[in-house]
Amino acid sequence: MSGPANSAIITENLTREFKGRVAVDSLNLTISSGTVFGLLGPNGAGKSTTIKMLTTMLSPTRGSAFVAGHSILSDPVGVRKSMGYVSQMLSADGALTGFENLMLFARIYGIPKSERRMRIEEVLRFMGLLESSSQMVSSYSGGMIRRLEIAQSMMHHPPILFLDEPTVGLDPLARHLVWDKLQELKTLFGTTILLTTHDMDEADQLCDDIALMHSAKIAVIGSPQELKLQAGADSMDGVFIHFVGEISDSTTNYHDIKETRRAARLMD
Ligand SMILES: Nc1ncnc2c1ncn2[C@@H]1O[C@H](COP(=O)(O)OP(=O)(O)OP(=O)(O)O)[C@@H](O)[C@H]1O
Ligand SMILES: [Mg+2]
Repeated sequence: MSGPANSAIITENLTREFKGRVAVDSLNLTISSGTVFGLLGPNGAGKSTTIKMLTTMLSPTRGSAFVAGHSILSDPVGVRKSMGYVSQMLSADGALTGFENLMLFARIYGIPKSERRMRIEEVLRFMGLLESSSQMVSSYSGGMIRRLEIAQSMMHHPPILFLDEPTVGLDPLARHLVWDKLQELKTLFGTTILLTTHDMDEADQLCDDIALMHSAKIAVIGSPQELKLQAGADSMDGVFIHFVGEISDSTTNYHDIKETRRAARLMD
């Protein structure tokens, strides 16, 4: 355990380099339990790399972090048991039904056989997918796929959820439905949610606190209201422009654009 007891996620100088290039630079974050925390920033800022380290998919070059009190360095299994993860890329299998996808995850999470059906039904109902559970996922809309992926990630009742661009490529209705479900997760179950987004409305409406990343570092942290005050802006768009400023062409590269376009295309 590290830090105050009500902190769900703590990072201590968390750093990741790729071939000497710093993708995440000495990140220090404290995220309170039961809050929705937004990680914002331009393409290539280091958001996904941060999430990959916190979910133990990528090891840090330096620094450390604690997720639900478990060290990502010395207790990666403890971290994984305490979290669910929805990646920036598509993670549901189109060749299976919604139910089958969930069954696969129930096995991965080690949910006892006798409980699997009950858990699957529970998350299908919660995400509004009960009626379509026997359809192939290839026939699902982008919004349904995203809700299925969230269902997959919450099946083992994790106290912490990581979502990398949960609503990219979704129409406004589908997006609002995802927001409602995430809000419900927070209010009904006290789930802590860390999400990344390029959608400034999403950040404004859903997040209790926001960290704006720029060039691998945190530019500013605060509630949407605080950030707007600080930037003298009346919208999160204004906040983003104020703190990130003119984005030079060198800020984003081919890798970043390719990843972003691929994620958006998959959700269409
Ligand atoms: N596997 C990798 N190998 C080399 N460089 C990488 C790798 N993954 C990420 N990077 C680089 O690290 C930096 C941060 O990338 P990251 O994917 O974390 O950005 P991001 O903030 O999630 O961007 P986006 O908004 O486009 O998703 C970028 O410069 C990216 O090119
Ligand atoms: Mg990313």
